[in-house]
Amino acid sequence: MSELNKIALKIISNGKGILAADESNATMTKRLEAVNVNSTPENRLLFRESIFSSNGMKEYIGGVILYDETIKQMTSFGKSIPDLISSSGALTGIKVDTGIKDLENSSREKITEGLDGLRERLKKYYELGARFTKWRAVYVINDKHPSKLAVKNNSHALARYASLVQESRMVPIVEPEVLMDGDHSVDSCLRKTSEVIKKCFDELILHKVDLSGVILKPNMILAGTKSKDKISAEEISLKTLECLKNSVPEEVPGIAFLSGGQKEIEATENLNLINKNNNTKFIITFSYGRALQQSALRMWSKNTKDIESTQNTFNHRAKMCSLAAQGKWSNKLENK
Ligand code: 13P
Repeated sequence: MSELNKIALKIISNGKGILAADESNATMTKRLEAVNVNSTPENRLLFRESIFSSNGMKEYIGGVILYDETIKQMTSFGKSIPDLISSSGALTGIKVDTGIKDLENSSREKITEGLDGLRERLKKYYELGARFTKWRAVYVINDKHPSKLAVKNNSHALARYASLVQESRMVPIVEPEVLMDGDHSVDSCLRKTSEVIKKCFDELILHKVDLSGVILKPNMILAGTKSKDKISAEEISLKTLECLKNSVPEEVPGIAFLSGGQKEIEATENLNLINKNNNTKFIITFSYGRALQQSALRMWSKNTKDIESTQNTFNHRAKMCSLAAQGKWSNKLENK
C-alpha cells in the first residue's frame, strides 16, 4: 500500500468524513453576515476553533480542509490549528486553488486558478502540517454548457494540481463540481457530471497521477434548483451510483461528496441511500461545508460565548453524516 493510499484511507474509513471549513474570507464573510456576525479574523477563528475542539471531531471527522488564513492561526488557548486538528485524530487539509475567474472566450464559464508558484506553496503547507489538499473546478450546465473549452482547461488544471500535490507527498482531493443552479433535468446532470469526471480522470492518468492516492469530491446527481422534476432520494442515489460506476476508475479509494447547497437533512438522507445501495468498491462519504456547519453557525451566532451549544449542534450533525456514510442513518435517529 502506498503512503498516499494510506493517508487517503485514514481520512475516509470507518464512517469518518471530511469537514470542509475552507471557505475563503469572502465566502466566510457572506456566511457570517447572514447570521449578523462581523467577519473579523478573530470571529472566523473563534467559530472554527469551537468546532475543531468538539467531541464530534474525534469520532466522525477524518480530515478538515482549511483556508490559508486558518492554517496559520493560533487558537485562543495557544495551540496551532493543525495541532488542534491532529489532537482529535484527524488530518489537516488545505485548499490550494486561488479561486475561480471568468474563462476567456466563454462568458458564462469559469476557470480555477492557482498553479503559479504552487510547488513552493505546497512545501510550506506541508511544513505547517497539511497532509492533503483541495482544488475546486466549477461547471455550469445547460444545453450549451459545459463547453469543451471549460472541460479541457479545468481538467488540465486539476491534473497539474494533483501531480504537484503528490510530488509533495500529500493526497489531492479533486473536485470537479457541477453546480445545482439552473433548470436542467436529473438525466442531464447525470450525463454532464459523468463527462466532466471522465475527462478529469483522463487528464490525471495522462499526468501519471497515482489514482490510489486521490480522493474524488463530486456533486450528487440532482435535478437543477429551477427544474420542475421531482426526484426521490432513492432515484438520486441510484443515478449517483450509476455516474460513479461509469466514470471513476476502480483504483480510486474513495468518494467524498460536497453538499452544494442541499439542506442538511437532504444531504444526509441522500448520502445514506447512496451507501445503502452502494454496489461499487469505493468508500463513499461526505466532505461537507454548509451541510455540516450551518446549524452550528446559527446556534453560535445567537451567543458567541455559548461554545457548548455550538459544539452539541455540530456533534449531532457530524454523527448523522457519519451514520449516513455507513448507510445506518434514519429519520428516527435524526430526531432523537
Ligand atoms: P458545500 O458542502 O457547502 O458545498 O462545500 C463543500 C466544498 O468544499 C465546496 O468546495
